Amino acid sequence: MRRKIIAGNWKMNKTVVDGQALVGEIKKEVGKVNDPVVLVCPPFTALTEVAMALKDSEIQIGGQHMHEADSGAYTGEISAEMLLTSGCTYVILGHSERRALFSETDKLVNAKAQKALAAGLIPIVCVGETLEQRESGAMEKVIEEQISGSLDSLSESDMKKTVIAYEPVWAIGTGKVATPEQAEEVHVYIRRLLAKTYGDETANEVTILYGGSVKASNADGLFEKENIDGALIGGASLKADEFTAIVKAMM
Ligand code: 13P
Repeated sequence: MRRKIIAGNWKMNKTVVDGQALVGEIKKEVGKVNDPVVLVCPPFTALTEVAMALKDSEIQIGGQHMHEADSGAYTGEISAEMLLTSGCTYVILGHSERRALFSETDKLVNAKAQKALAAGLIPIVCVGETLEQRESGAMEKVIEEQISGSLDSLSESDMKKTVIAYEPVWAIGTGKVATPEQAEEVHVYIRRLLAKTYGDETANEVTILYGGSVKASNADGLFEKENIDGALIGGASLKADEFTAIVKAMM
């Protein structure tokens, strides 16, 4: 059985106090839920306090980004060990905003994924095409390059731990959600790509999340699809009632 996950990516939102208040509300509703895994990814500044606030719950915490080196002269960066010791179990890597705004390449995402796995963090590796790529018929090629580049040389056991998030860039923060059929089609395609390298058994164990304008009102349709194992949620994860309703849609 594949692990189901509902993850909130807070992006650059919520101060420490706001983050504590938000998880306080979330905990009241779904604090004891462990299937699906409920995950929140606050900004670095709020990790420790949010972790404390969630101590007596099943809710997990993740980073939104990390550096691939162990330590050193990398002003402004955060290491895998820093995330782990702040209470994180997961880390989002290669989000399209990091790829587009901070020039992250597949090669770099791969180095980060290897480091995260070696340190004991579960990477959530994001892939997804732009509208232009989809409309020009390049979607499959783009996804294939991102998958093979970002996950290059992962062992079979590391691949089974790794989570993939399919986030079409045109659906992020736009209110334009992919239809359940559009999302399922790409999830099936990603699973086929994984099967080519790792075989069916491993490919079937990999959790593939959908991300891009997921809300309580569209979650049910997405979660009915066999290959959609949960969601990576931006805007709607900042509101306790929306986020917990999405968790409940997966239960
Ligand atoms: P929205 O849910 O705001 O579209 O963001 C999706 C996303 O980028 C999650 O990582």
